[in-house]
Amino acid sequence: MKLLHIDSSALGANSVSRGLSAAIVAEWKAHHPGLQVEYRDLDAEPLPHLTGAALAKSDPAQAAEAERVLEQFLSADVVVIGVPMYNLSIPSTLKAWIDRIVVAGRTFRYTAEGPQGLAGGRKVIIASARGGLHAGAPTDFQEPYLRQLFAFIGIHDVELVRAEGVAISPEHREQALAGARARIDELVQPLAKAA
Ligand SMILES: Cc1cc2nc3c(=O)[nH]c(=O)nc-3n(C[C@H](O)[C@H](O)[C@H](O)COP(=O)(O)O)c2cc1C
Repeated sequence: MKLLHIDSSALGANSVSRGLSAAIVAEWKAHHPGLQVEYRDLDAEPLPHLTGAALAKSDPAQAAEAERVLEQFLSADVVVIGVPMYNLSIPSTLKAWIDRIVVAGRTFRYTAEGPQGLAGGRKVIIASARGGLHAGAPTDFQEPYLRQLFAFIGIHDVELVRAEGVAISPEHREQALAGARARIDELVQPLAKAA
C-alpha cells in the first residue's frame, strides 16, 4: 500500500495542518508497517505556476517534473493533504500541485454526458486548518473546493479532519486541536485499521 503525504502550510513548525497531517499519517503507519510513504512539502519544494510554457511542455525539465508529480499521485492508494485556509481558499502552492494532477485524459475526460473522473479508487484525507470559523459559511472556498475537485477526477472517498477558529484565541485553538485529534482517533484510526 502506498500513501502520499502532502503539506502546504507556510508556517513551518507552528503549522496546525502539518501537525494534523503528520498525526493522520502516523495512524496509517501504525496499522500498516509495510506502508510506503512518499512526502512532498509544497512550501519547501514548490512547483511553478502553470504557465503557457508549462502547458506547451517547452521546458523538458519542468515537463518531466509535472509527469513525476502526476505519476506519484496516481500510484498512491491514500493521499493525506495538510491544507491551511489562505484568503478564503487554499495556498497557491497547493493550487500549483492540483494543476499538475488534474489533467485531461489522465485523471478526467470530457464526454458528451459531461466530465468523467478517471482517478477513482483511492482515498483522500484532508487536514484543514483555519484562523476563523467558516464551516457551512459562504466564505468557505477551501474545503468545498477540494471536495468538488476530487469528485471531478472521480474521487468521492474524501475524509476531512478540521481545526478551525485557531486564531480567535488560545482557548479556541486548544479546543479546535482537541476536536481534530478526537476525529483522528474516531474516524481515521478505524479507517487505517480496516484498510
Ligand atoms: C496568508 C494567510 C492567509 C490567511 N487567510 C485566512 C482566511 O482567509 N481565513 C481564515 O479564517 N484564516 C486565514 N488565515 C489563518 C490560517 O488559516 C490559520 O493560521 C491556519 O492555522 C493556517 O494553517 P497552518 O497553521 O497549517 O499554517 C490566513 C493565514 C495566512 C498566513
